[in-house]
Amino acid sequence: FAASRPPATRGRLGKILSLEDFEEAARRHLPRPIFGYIQGGTETDSSVRANRASFAAHAFVPRVLVDTGARSGATMLMGQACAQPFGISPMGASALAAYRGDMVLTEAARDAGIPMIVSGASLIRMEDLVAANPDAWFQAYLPGEEDRILPVVDRAAAAGFKTLVLTADTAVLPNRENNVRSGFSMPLKPTPRLAWDSAIRPRWLLGTFARTLMTHGMPHIENMDAVRGVPLVSRNFVRALGARDRLTWAHFAMMRRRWPGKIVVKGILAAEDARRAADEGADGIIVSNHGGRQLDFSVAPLQVLPEIVAAAGEMPVMLDGGVRRGTDVLKALALGAKFVWVGRPMIYAAAIGGQPGVAHAISLLAEEVRRGMALLGAPTLDDLGPHLLRPAV
Ligand code: FNR
Repeated sequence: FAASRPPATRGRLGKILSLEDFEEAARRHLPRPIFGYIQGGTETDSSVRANRASFAAHAFVPRVLVDTGARSGATMLMGQACAQPFGISPMGASALAAYRGDMVLTEAARDAGIPMIVSGASLIRMEDLVAANPDAWFQAYLPGEEDRILPVVDRAAAAGFKTLVLTADTAVLPNRENNVRSGFSMPLKPTPRLAWDSAIRPRWLLGTFARTLMTHGMPHIENMDAVRGVPLVSRNFVRALGARDRLTWAHFAMMRRRWPGKIVVKGILAAEDARRAADEGADGIIVSNHGGRQLDFSVAPLQVLPEIVAAAGEMPVMLDGGVRRGTDVLKALALGAKFVWVGRPMIYAAAIGGQPGVAHAISLLAEEVRRGMALLGAPTLDDLGPHLLRPAV
């Protein structure tokens, strides 16, 4: 059976057999406040749990004696060839968890031939990231102010991004009590807890934090112009985010007119909003509850996926939130998603193993998808459909 294991099986990564293993390894590796920032949701964490539960609620009805020898997870997404039906979700401040985290994710995605969405809250310049991976997408966090939207849109276009993602589910900063309890804050405050937890995790302290300080200085926001260059420890950081609660479809329409490439809305959970996005000229949507990190008790994306797919017409519907297994990918695709995105496990993989760590995570998931297709009797992704699913008991 070892033959089907991915190549990175020596050393530390050899013990990592699944994406869940990366989470456990990261729990030991990262200072608690930083691990908590990544893992946590908001308030009661209800949506984080719902995301996982929504996948567990489906069971497969496999078909047998089907020739799946030529199976492949490769797919076309809005004109872009993707080696796998999954990509890497945008995650802000990745470079706190892994040395040059955003770059590690971007380069690993490039090498694996999968898309990666550069976060608007990245700590590395968008220009450097798209230079490393011309197929990367850019995700913007924008306030409802025209004079602050267009410069970001124009900058991303000039940098060479071909796909722009507007994250729509962050009208205000969420209530992440877990961060307060664990000593993590934005702006980042050097709390005693953070100092102590860092001191007892020297691999992170020296390998990520000290190394970042020595090579690039104190981390700062790079891709939101109003806060550009403002260190993460500065109070101005939050104030300068602007009035995101004033952002509307009218601003989206303005972006649509300005942006020359593909444009995607991320954070849709209502079928009506999916239809509106299509009407406003979106090229795709990502059904998402932000990994359970914004409105607590927001519905799991997988639960509303079928009604959204029905409302979206021809527009491709993507999904993220709680995807951890190849079977999760196959379930989402069977329920009508064109593509899925994976968040937290990729940042854990970057923290644990740098670029080879992310490559290992991608190949583990890719192998699970391929194995799942064979066992399910689905030679192509187009063979996936709701007929292969039943409610789990
Ligand atoms: C995020 N997410 C996110 N989304 C976004 O549009 N812009 C961003 O900058 C961030 N930042 C961010 C940081 C961290 C640490 C996490 C964990 C998440 C949400 C992310 O893109 C995605 O929607 C979820 O992470 C998907 O859920 P899973 O796969 O993490 O369960």
